[in-house]
Amino acid sequence: MNKIKVKLNNCEQFINKSDYDGIFIEIENALLLLENKQGKGNDYLGWVELPNTISQVLLDDLNKTARKIRNESNILVVIGIGGSYLGSKAVIDALKGYFTNKGIEVLFMGNSISSTYISEIVDYLKDKEFSVNVISKSGTTTEPAIAFRVINELLIKKYGKKANERIYVTTDEKKGALRKLANEFHYKSFVIPSDVGGRFSVLTPVGLLPIAVAGFDINKLLNGAKQAYENSHENVKNYIAARNILYRKGKKIEIMVNYEPKLHYLIEWWKQLFGESEGKDGKGIFPAGVDFSADLHSMGQYMQDGERILFETVLNIKQPIKDYSIPKTNDDKDGLRYIEGESINYVNSQAMKGTIAAHVEGKVPNIEITIPILNEETIGYLLYFFEKSCGVSGYVLGVNPFNQPGVEKYKTNMFTLLGKPGY
Ligand code: PA5
Repeated sequence: MNKIKVKLNNCEQFINKSDYDGIFIEIENALLLLENKQGKGNDYLGWVELPNTISQVLLDDLNKTARKIRNESNILVVIGIGGSYLGSKAVIDALKGYFTNKGIEVLFMGNSISSTYISEIVDYLKDKEFSVNVISKSGTTTEPAIAFRVINELLIKKYGKKANERIYVTTDEKKGALRKLANEFHYKSFVIPSDVGGRFSVLTPVGLLPIAVAGFDINKLLNGAKQAYENSHENVKNYIAARNILYRKGKKIEIMVNYEPKLHYLIEWWKQLFGESEGKDGKGIFPAGVDFSADLHSMGQYMQDGERILFETVLNIKQPIKDYSIPKTNDDKDGLRYIEGESINYVNSQAMKGTIAAHVEGKVPNIEITIPILNEETIGYLLYFFEKSCGVSGYVLGVNPFNQPGVEKYKTNMFTLLGKPGY
């Protein structure tokens, strides 16, 4: 794999050498805490060794199950929320064609409480062949629980006693309502290791089964993650140093930018990873995301000219999956002669260069992550690189990156309003 690299050239006017020297020591200490499992939340560090420890038996089972699902269905419905869906959605969107599926459509459900979405997906599925992968570590989260009840009713109406054969459960080995259901109804099930938290679980069956069903090579994905496991020290160090120095200098918001909309959900996954891990105890960089050039026509104004509390991290893909030339015309009525015959990717890359220069001039520091091309290996690398960066960054910030006490607050209020027993 050609190298993925974190580049800090466009941070030079905002960060001094002495800033780096100081924080590099903090980062090495944080890395030690993570590697020796001595930091906060150290009972949730199972993800650290995943690229190395996932067994071939499990991978074979996942691939075999994926083939079975593809053979018996045209659609897989993945039910889950937060860390139980964002990783697979990110990988599948980054790798699949915009208008094509590799033979099977993967739909997501249970990540909102939209009555319209639920009604429309039920209508859409009625006359289709489909299977379901319901994913919840706790096995009790309200949104996926509601979605599963709805889909289970539809499956039973459609397939009768054979409905159970189309249900695949991914949950804790022992705990939760979903594990009880899987045991009682003999659903095929996969385990989420108890020491891997939701947002760090994309390289477990949580992410791997839907990704394999969508037709992508999970062995290659894990290979990419393994390369990051073995060889991302420099990248992690540079990324975490720059973002934390900038944060300390008042840049409170990190905007992750893509110039390839296939990466929209990778940024959503990254937002969850960093937002839920770092935003606590009154601290944390606010993670935001934009799709350029679309959002240059909306958020671009704020980024160039609004309050100077931002820095941006650009995901720069060097080689697109496909390219296209701008057609030539005789009359040039649309005024595009200056770029006709040019590749569209060339135009996109000039848009990126021009935007970075403008933003840096407008006092928005820029971190660049160069990615040779989008494939299973480079995405696998990015997933692990960001997970490791997140764990280290949380320790540098002084928080426990592996809990999420804040998300309980809304649930208590909602359950009280709904009259759930015990609230
Ligand atoms: O990162 C996390 O732990 C959360 O975002 C969870 O993934 C999310 O709340 C879903 O939880 P569960 O898988 O228990 O349904």
